[in-house]
Amino acid sequence: MELNRRTVIAGAAAAGVAATTLGGTAHATGGRKPVKTLFGKLADGTKIYSWSLENGGTRLKVLSYGGIVQSLEIPDRRGRYANVSAGFATIDDYVAKSPYFGALIGRYGNRIGKGKFTLDGKNYQLSVNDGEQSLHGGAKGFDKRVWDIEPFVKGSDVGLHLYYTSVDGEMGYPGTLKTKVTYTLTRHGDWRVDYEATTDKATVVNLTSHVYFNLAGEGSGTIEDHELQIAASRYTPTDAGLIPTGELAKVAGTPFDFRKAKPIGRDIRVSHPQLVTAKGFDHNWVLDKGITARPEHVATLRDPASGRTMKIATNEPGLQFYSGNFLDGTLTGPSGRTYRQGDALCLETQHFPDSPNKPKFPSTVLRPGQTYRTTTIHTFGC
Ligand code: BGC
Repeated sequence: MELNRRTVIAGAAAAGVAATTLGGTAHATGGRKPVKTLFGKLADGTKIYSWSLENGGTRLKVLSYGGIVQSLEIPDRRGRYANVSAGFATIDDYVAKSPYFGALIGRYGNRIGKGKFTLDGKNYQLSVNDGEQSLHGGAKGFDKRVWDIEPFVKGSDVGLHLYYTSVDGEMGYPGTLKTKVTYTLTRHGDWRVDYEATTDKATVVNLTSHVYFNLAGEGSGTIEDHELQIAASRYTPTDAGLIPTGELAKVAGTPFDFRKAKPIGRDIRVSHPQLVTAKGFDHNWVLDKGITARPEHVATLRDPASGRTMKIATNEPGLQFYSGNFLDGTLTGPSGRTYRQGDALCLETQHFPDSPNKPKFPSTVLRPGQTYRTTTIHTFGC
């Protein structure tokens, strides 16, 4: 979290302003152990827990189902909290109809064309769950798995280690993939996600997080007024099945130019063939910094009305910006309000979609003996 936000929280407390909307007051310090409560049960009786974490003025609720961020609360410029992530109130809704709300995505974020790829001369057929394509790991991806969770307090950080082992052949992917994801809330209120995976056979992997953000608060309406900046001069145009054509197209002079912050709604109705196909923004931006050893700033999202901001830093080469095009008013969030098209957006750090079939894209191959490691940091301010 940035200094100005800390000052606001402290200021709100000093002025006796109720720095909360959902119980409790804003804490600028943390280090308290995550708290576990029963959230619900799956049809087979498996208990699903909700873990509550708080540090540096940020509050997070995480489910053992899908590693789902069920709630992410941050203050606005007056110290008032809101849950800025779309989701559901019950486990039944998550199981029955979630469009990946808040979930961990694996083994492969976004699409692999026709669910097919060839690795070391062997052909693989993945679970196909999006027309002809394999999306977000197939019919039962990491978003629908039960994760083992271990809480931790380390120095001034609090967090959770989440573990899931995907067996050889699951959803068609080769190799036993041992996955560990760490969610950390720092004393500054940053939410950091560290992904790690190892395999016992050559495979492909591309893990990400599918939080739907609305910095005005979930259920509060459109994100079209949010301003977005993405440090990318190129993006990967797609075909009708939302599979990249392989081209790295320039954003200059197109609605895809977010190099300078602009309101999301400004160009979303431009009749550009790529926007028509995807019903809005649903593309991978080729981050100018490329793959980096350490996370570097790649995007800033800001809601001018509340003053809430979120900065994203990653070591990944790509960012999928999805403007919630398929939300259609049929899902109801914890606030009791429905989600309509563009009521939340995703910013998914990743390798590019369909990389296993695009030799010119950065490789997503993981081999035995290697460890897959990526990090994404969300910094909140106001
Ligand atoms: C994809 C969209 C998809 C959505 C699912 C996003 O990551 O880019 O095409 O519809 O996930 O909710």
